[in-house]
Amino acid sequence: NGQTHISQLPTEIMLRLFHYLSPKDLCRCSQVCSSWSELAKTGSLWRHLYPVRWARGDYYNGPPGDQDQEPDDDWVKSRQKEGLAYQEWDEDADVDESDGYKAITNAQREKRLLNGLIHHLLPAVGGSVKSIVLAYSSTVSSKMVRQILNLCPNISHLDLTQSDITDAAFDSWSFYGACHSLEHLDLSGCDKISDYTLKKLSVGLGKTSISDNCPNKRAKLLKAPPVPISLMDERSLHQAVRRHQALMFKQRSSPSHVWVLDSSHLADIEDAAGWRRLSVPEEEHFVQTQLVAGSCCCRRRGLRTSTMSYLHAPFVSAEVLCGHSTCCSSDTALRTFSEPQTESCRGSTGDFRTKCSHSKRSLRFLSLSGCYQVTDSGLRALSQLGGLPLLEHLNLSGCLLITEVGLQELVSACPSLKDEHFYYCDNINGPLADTASGCQNLQCGFRVCCRSGE
Ligand code: FES
Repeated sequence: NGQTHISQLPTEIMLRLFHYLSPKDLCRCSQVCSSWSELAKTGSLWRHLYPVRWARGDYYNGPPGDQDQEPDDDWVKSRQKEGLAYQEWDEDADVDESDGYKAITNAQREKRLLNGLIHHLLPAVGGSVKSIVLAYSSTVSSKMVRQILNLCPNISHLDLTQSDITDAAFDSWSFYGACHSLEHLDLSGCDKISDYTLKKLSVGLGKTSISDNCPNKRAKLLKAPPVPISLMDERSLHQAVRRHQALMFKQRSSPSHVWVLDSSHLADIEDAAGWRRLSVPEEEHFVQTQLVAGSCCCRRRGLRTSTMSYLHAPFVSAEVLCGHSTCCSSDTALRTFSEPQTESCRGSTGDFRTKCSHSKRSLRFLSLSGCYQVTDSGLRALSQLGGLPLLEHLNLSGCLLITEVGLQELVSACPSLKDEHFYYCDNINGPLADTASGCQNLQCGFRVCCRSGE
C-alpha cells in the first residue's frame, strides 16, 4: 500500500529522530525492542547530563548555560530542605502526602536515576559525555561521582555545586591526563574539599607542553617547581620504580605495559566490588605506559607510571611526567591513551593518542567558593605543570586559609584570568586588588564567608 513501517527506516534517520526526544522518551524507546535499545545508547544522544533536573521533571539536555549565573534562592532552599528530609527519613515510619513526603520522593527518584545512569547508561555512552551537572543534588555521594568520572573520561563541564562530596570523589583523577578535557569545574559550596583534590586536579589536567623551538619557554618548564605535587608516599614510588625496572630488564626487546595497583589504597571493599561490577570496555579506561630507549629530556627525573581507572591507585608524581613535544615523538614516545579518539587528538601512532598532542591544560572556569579548607598548597599545585593558561574565571570567595602569597603564585600562572571574574576574600591584600571582584559570599546565607553575619 506504499506505506513504510518505522522499522524499515534506515538507522541514520532513526538516530536523527531520536535526537528530538527527551531523556525520558529515549528511555521509553529503549524498552521497545533490542534494536531501539541499542540505538538509544548512541553516545551523541547523551552529551549533556542533568540528573538532578531530570529527577524533578525538567528534561533539558542541551549544553550548559550561562556560567556566571547566580543560584536561584528558591531552588537552593528547596534542595536544602529536600536533602534534610532525605537524611532524616525513617524508612519504617508512615509518611503522609506532605511537603516532606514530596521531598523524599524527589530525592529517591534522583538516587534511582543516578544509579541507573552509572550502572546501565554510562558504561555504554560515557566516552561521549561532555557535561554533567549535579549541582544541589541531595543524594549524590563521593562514590557515585568517582564512578561517573571513571566512566566519562572526556568530560569538559562538571558542576558539583553545593553537593556533599569529599576528596574521595576525585580519586580517579590521580593519574596524568585523567581529566585532560576539563574546562569548567564548579565546586562552590563543597566545603569538604581540600588541597588534596586540587593536587589531583592539577595532575589530571596533564601538562602544558612547550615548543622546543622556544628555548626560553623550555628552560622555564624544566626549572623545578618550588614544591612538587605528590600523591603517594616515596616508599611506594620507589617500590613501583623497582618493579618497573625489573620488568624492563626482563623484556628489553619490547616496550612493556606496567600496571601498578595498590589495593591498600582502596577506599573500602564496597568500592572495589562496585568497580568490578561495572562492565566498562577495558580499552576505554586505562592508561598504558611505555618506556623505551631514547633520549627523553625528562628521563633522568624518573619513570612514568600507569594506573587502571577501575582500581583506586593514586600514583603519579609531577616530577616524573614528561610533557615535552619533541621528546615524545614517534621513536621515543612515552605513553598513549586508548580512550575514544577524536581526529584532532590523534597522534603519529594512528589509533592511539599521544599524550603530547594536548598542548594546553584546558581549564577555563574554576569555582572553589566556600571551600574553606583550601590553602596556598592547593593553589600552588594548580600553578605547577604549566599553570592554567586558559583560566578566565576563578572564584576563591570564602577560602579563608589562603594568603596573598598563594594567590600571587597562582595568578602569575593564569595569564588569561579576567579581573572581573576573579573573586577572593576582601580581607586579603592580594593580586589585582583594585580590579578584582572581591568576595562573592558576603550576601550569601549558605556559603562560608569571614564576614557573614556582619
Ligand atoms: Fe572574607 Fe568573604 S571570605 S569577605
